[in-house]
Amino acid sequence: MSEAYPTLFSPVTLGPMTLRNRIAMAPLTRQMAHADGTPTDEMAAYYARRARGGLGLIITEGTYEQEAFQSRAYLSQPGIANAAHVAGWRPVCEAVHAHGAKIVIQLMHGGRVSDPRVLGGAPPVSASATQSGGWTLYTDNDYEKGIRNIQGAWPKVTFGQARALTVEEIHAVADGFAAGAKRAVEAGADGVEVHGANGYLLWQFITPKTNLRTDEFGGSPENNVRFARLVGERIRAAIGPDKAIILRLSQDGVDDFTGAWPGGTAYAKAVGKALAGSDYDALHWASFNYLDNRFADDPTPMPTVIRRASGLPVITNGGIADGAQAEAALTSGAGDMVAIGRPIFAHPDWPYIVRSGVPYPWLDFDRKYVVQPPLDFGLAYPTGLVDPGWPLP
Ligand SMILES: Cc1cc2nc3c(=O)[nH]c(=O)nc-3n(C[C@H](O)[C@H](O)[C@H](O)COP(=O)(O)O)c2cc1C
Repeated sequence: MSEAYPTLFSPVTLGPMTLRNRIAMAPLTRQMAHADGTPTDEMAAYYARRARGGLGLIITEGTYEQEAFQSRAYLSQPGIANAAHVAGWRPVCEAVHAHGAKIVIQLMHGGRVSDPRVLGGAPPVSASATQSGGWTLYTDNDYEKGIRNIQGAWPKVTFGQARALTVEEIHAVADGFAAGAKRAVEAGADGVEVHGANGYLLWQFITPKTNLRTDEFGGSPENNVRFARLVGERIRAAIGPDKAIILRLSQDGVDDFTGAWPGGTAYAKAVGKALAGSDYDALHWASFNYLDNRFADDPTPMPTVIRRASGLPVITNGGIADGAQAEAALTSGAGDMVAIGRPIFAHPDWPYIVRSGVPYPWLDFDRKYVVQPPLDFGLAYPTGLVDPGWPLP
């Protein structure tokens, strides 16, 4: 056990899954799959490299779980929607396990912010008939612009008018998540994470701004969360008690980076409470700063609010850059585990380096987001290994 960060490097149990430490890799979309959604060898190497760095858990990039209902959100996004996808994920899971880490596949449905290029002319689906205001590709600083040779304003991605799912379709989509989860387990995953965050379909139900429904799937925190609970229930029925199911939540969306739940902390409490006793083994709070809750009345960090209200273990994420910050997130009660995104992407040996106590020149990040190859040069980050003499498992 590390002397410096004893909590961070202690094991943790999330439902049926016990992890060697409390460091998860946050889900990071890379668009590295084949055009048909089959994972590539490059993906196996990428995840294995980070598992080798000492992580407890890898949460994969958002993966579409079904071909139906415009689930797919990105070009070159991986899927777990058919047998070829299962065969593609198998070497990824094996490679991660070979390095002593566990892996859950993040299941996501893009909803109203699915890239129109993957929808083939069909309207996107959502909680209600709304239209996203779109989002700006990548970051927006001059340096980024210069290296991409972009003149004027940053290109904006726009989306069509969404149509509302019927109640019957909501059940069918939940069944699609369950079938995807079953395939994930078949591929060797230790469980799944359901993406209920960051502006995608389940977020569009949970967030009152985009859920205008008046049936049992809208109109109150409990109703807004009902679809996410249903997805958890159908997945549990499909994969049984031995595999983990995590639900990711956030205020932000890819098209709403300063998102705040109307109703403030009270709404967050109600969401947490509505998830108590659900089929989820843990919740995962996504943010660019885990400490922020954006409400003047009560400064309690949002993951702490959700953890208390739900009684479930929480993975906390956002802006955690080094070991001291990770340890503080855990000991302050903001989570049972931390998820590290951009730092692990850039420094695959982050856990090893942190555990060594060696001072390290971590990179700074701006809000790097998803762009299409060939503009994306994300894998070119430095990957220098500092060996602290921590034996490989
Ligand atoms: C390039 C990139 C891709 C991302 N892809 C996903 C994704 O597929 N699913 C998801 O839930 N969050 C995704 N996120 C959000 C991250 O998981 C995380 O919440 C965010 O980077 C903040 O954490 P950090 O400060 O540790 O990087 C992505 C973020 C970035 C920068």
